[in-house]
Formats: sequence, structure tokens, C-alpha cells
Amino acid sequence: MKTVKIKNKTLTVPIIQGGMGVGISLGNLAGNVAKCGGMGVISTAHPGYREDDFETNHRQANIRALKKEIIKAKEIREGKGIVAINAMVALQDYEELIEAAIEAGVEAIISGAGLPMHLPALVKNHDVLIAPIVSSGKACKLILRSWWHKHQRLPDFIVIEGCQAGGHLGFKKEDLVNHTCQSLDEIFRDVKQVVVGYEDEHDVKIPIFVAGGIYKKQDVDHYLSIGVNGVQVATRFITTQECDASIEYKKAFIEAKKEDIELVSSPVGMPGRAIKNQFTNRVKEGKINISKCYRCLKPCHVKDAPYCISKALIEAVKGNIDDGLIFSGAYGYLNNEMTTVKAVIEELTEEKS
Ligand SMILES: Cc1cc2nc3c(=O)[nH]c(=O)nc-3n(C[C@H](O)[C@H](O)[C@H](O)COP(=O)(O)O)c2cc1C
Repeated sequence: MKTVKIKNKTLTVPIIQGGMGVGISLGNLAGNVAKCGGMGVISTAHPGYREDDFETNHRQANIRALKKEIIKAKEIREGKGIVAINAMVALQDYEELIEAAIEAGVEAIISGAGLPMHLPALVKNHDVLIAPIVSSGKACKLILRSWWHKHQRLPDFIVIEGCQAGGHLGFKKEDLVNHTCQSLDEIFRDVKQVVVGYEDEHDVKIPIFVAGGIYKKQDVDHYLSIGVNGVQVATRFITTQECDASIEYKKAFIEAKKEDIELVSSPVGMPGRAIKNQFTNRVKEGKINISKCYRCLKPCHVKDAPYCISKALIEAVKGNIDDGLIFSGAYGYLNNEMTTVKAVIEELTEEKS
């Protein structure tokens, strides 16, 4: 299988495990993906939800836990792969979490859910790879232009997230419902066009990874054949033994059917994709009482929010499934058995003899 060189680092398999909050991709999953030669990504969305002081001091709990999870992943990976974080621009504590991750020795930062315009300034001259997540050629162009103009810095790699992904989606709800979103192939073509100009001008290589609905070796082969450098895969890793979520969370995927995957509205005003359950049904019926605000996402206004996304995601990862929001990619129902990280990576990459 193709290796991917990203600046001074190499992935021996062209796979990034997508960051999954809250608590779905922490040090165990990320470390084990890196151990197989891929990029393991720890989510910075409330990594401290299990800390004793989380309810009274979530900011410190998250910073402390993030550092612990990075160190754990780096111990597990036995010197292989790359250990990264996913930092959503929309997070209230975005800057502090990035600073903490750098202190703990993170090797790459992938940032989306907004345009990460200030990321180069936040990482300064630290030896850490940086990548934006984009869902269009236009967003890519804006970021590259701004990064170069203001910081004389280009991304070390780029992740394109298409409309089949899980979690928050960078597309309009109407386009998702009417299936009128640009395809990943089309977005890749647009992004590549932007990137090639910078690569030629600055004599650099900026590998591009695509994400959203990648499940089989044929999907990986297809994207590599059109010139993509690698893939980012998230949902498929949920039903691995190494995934950091509770067993109840994993079972929800194994039991889900095609018709159970649905679009949901998030309190941050973006559409998302999740597994239909008692919680999503209650959300459709009306506002769910919010007893506490965790100040997690900048665009969320507690007064108008239909529910608290932090609480919903924390309940889910802990296994309180009926009270939780279970984010899923469009093909989450294909996760029909428990497996391992090694088996998933082999299935996605191995050449058939
Ligand atoms: C449970 C879950 C949680 C996610 N959380 C985040 C997140 O915190 N930040 C983010 O940028 N993307 C998040 N994503 C998106 C993934 O990182 C990934 O890009 C996407 O799901 C890829 O599609 P796939 O799940 O079909 O492989 C999440 C996805 C899932 C399924």
C-alpha cells in the first residue's frame, strides 16, 4: 500500500482515523491506529469528561486529560505512525487546548468546524504538522490565501470532508436532504486545483486526504486512483475493541439499520448525522431542558438551543444511549460486528494476493 510522506514524517498506510468527540477517539484508539502506521487522532471536545473535577472545572479537566491522552497514545504507538488532535475552531477553549497539546508533544493538528484562520499563529514555530478540514474548493482557497498572506505558512496536509461524514457537516441541510451536495470527487478536483498552484509556486507537496463514507478497500482504491493521497476514516473505527467509547455505544452501531441513520439539527446551527434513538425523537418533539451550560461551542446560545450538545454527547459515550446523541457517518449501519483496529486497517489497505 502507498505510504504518505507529510513534511518530515511518514505514514506507512494512507489512513487518518478521524477525530471523534466526545470521548470516542482518545488515546487508546489514536495510539493503536498510529501503531498500525496511520495517523491516530484524539478529539479535543471534552476529553476530560471522566475527570473527577469535570463538572466543577471542565476547562482544567479537559486540558489535563488531553495531555494524558496524547502521552498515552504516544506510549501505545511504539514509535510508529503519527499522533494528532482534532481541534474544532468553534470550541470555546480552542487556543488553550492547542497550546496544551503542543506541550504534551502532539505531532499534528487537524482543525475544522469553522475556518482555522489563526492556526499558524497558534502553533508558531513548533514542530507540529497542521491541516485544515474543508468541504469546498472555495474554503480551501480562502484558508490558503490567508495563511500565506498573514503567516507565510501553508498547510502540511489537507482533509476534505464530504457529505457522507458523521458529526457536524459543512453542508446546507437542503443539499443534504435533496442529495445535491458536491461529491467528494468534485470537491477533490476543486481543492487540488487550488493546491497545485501553491505547490508549484513554493516547491512543496501538500498531501490531500478525503473523508466521509469510506468503508471498503474499493473506496480507498478509487480515491487513490483519482490522485488523492490518503483517506480519513472515522465511523468504521467505532466498533473496534480499541475505540474509547463504552460497549453500549458500540452496540448501538451494531444494532443500527440503514433507516436509523438520520440528519439532526445541532444547537450550533449546523446539520449533523446521527443514529435515530429516543433522544433524537425527543429533540424532534421539542426543546430539551438545559440544566447547565458547559460553554463548549462559540456559536451555541443556551437560551435558544434545543438541547445541550455536550450533555447529549457525554451521555452517549458513557453508554446512557436513550439520553445521548450518537453521531454516525452515513454508513454507520454497516458496522455489524466488533473488530480490531488492525483488522480494519488491513481490510482497507491489503493487496489481494
Ligand atoms: C461519532 C463521531 C464524532 C465526530 N466528532 C468530530 C469532531 O469532534 N470534530 C470533527 O472535526 N469531526 C468529527 N467527526 C467527523 C470525523 O472526524 C470524520 O471526518 C467523518 O466522520 C468521516 O466519515 P466516516 O465517519 O464516514 O468515516 C465525528 C464523526 C463521528 C462519527
